[in-house]
Amino acid sequence: MQTLAVLRRFLVSSMAVLRVRPKAAKYNHSEGVHVEEPKAELSHQRQLNGDERKRTKAVETKEQALDFQKLDEIIADKGSERGALIPVLQEAQEAYGYLPKEILKEIARRLKLPLSRVYGVATFYSQFYLTRRGKNVIKLCDGTACHVKGAAKSIEYLKKEKNLAPGTTSPDYEYTLEVVYCLGACALSPVVMVNGRPYRQATPERIKQILDGPLS
Ligand code: FES
Repeated sequence: MQTLAVLRRFLVSSMAVLRVRPKAAKYNHSEGVHVEEPKAELSHQRQLNGDERKRTKAVETKEQALDFQKLDEIIADKGSERGALIPVLQEAQEAYGYLPKEILKEIARRLKLPLSRVYGVATFYSQFYLTRRGKNVIKLCDGTACHVKGAAKSIEYLKKEKNLAPGTTSPDYEYTLEVVYCLGACALSPVVMVNGRPYRQATPERIKQILDGPLS
């Protein structure tokens, strides 16, 4: 009886020690045991979490730095009725270059609409962009007429020389490349449109010339 009481006291005190000093353990599948993580790994993880927090803060700060005054003017002009959503989105995109998350949230708040509805409209229409675009937008046609006239070579050229894959923006936000499938000017193929201006016979050499020249 006394032995049992001693054994019980020993078990209770051991469990208390384990509770006070929890270990970061992970399962080693090859050996079938739990092993403690090295301290260096834990501090590295803590460091990563710290960096992650700093990055998040930087993004928040950047978003908070958005000039909401432009949005005030747009809403004062277009109204804050629910039906004004599309014109407000169009004007906001014109003013900010794209539709940042914080602007969408603010539009939803001001127009008293659920954020999901604002996102739904902004993602439904291809005219709206939720990510920042380049200063110069290149629309390169790879429709049938342009394709047979060698549009693929121009796509390849932009990929190689400007590091621009279709649908991407260069890291310096100088260019955005969109591949489209007919600009309605097949007789001029291959066609490229830069910042809304169409150019005929857009061979790689011609594209180089266009991009090296002054762009409006
Ligand atoms: S296919 Fe390129 S303009 Fe029509």
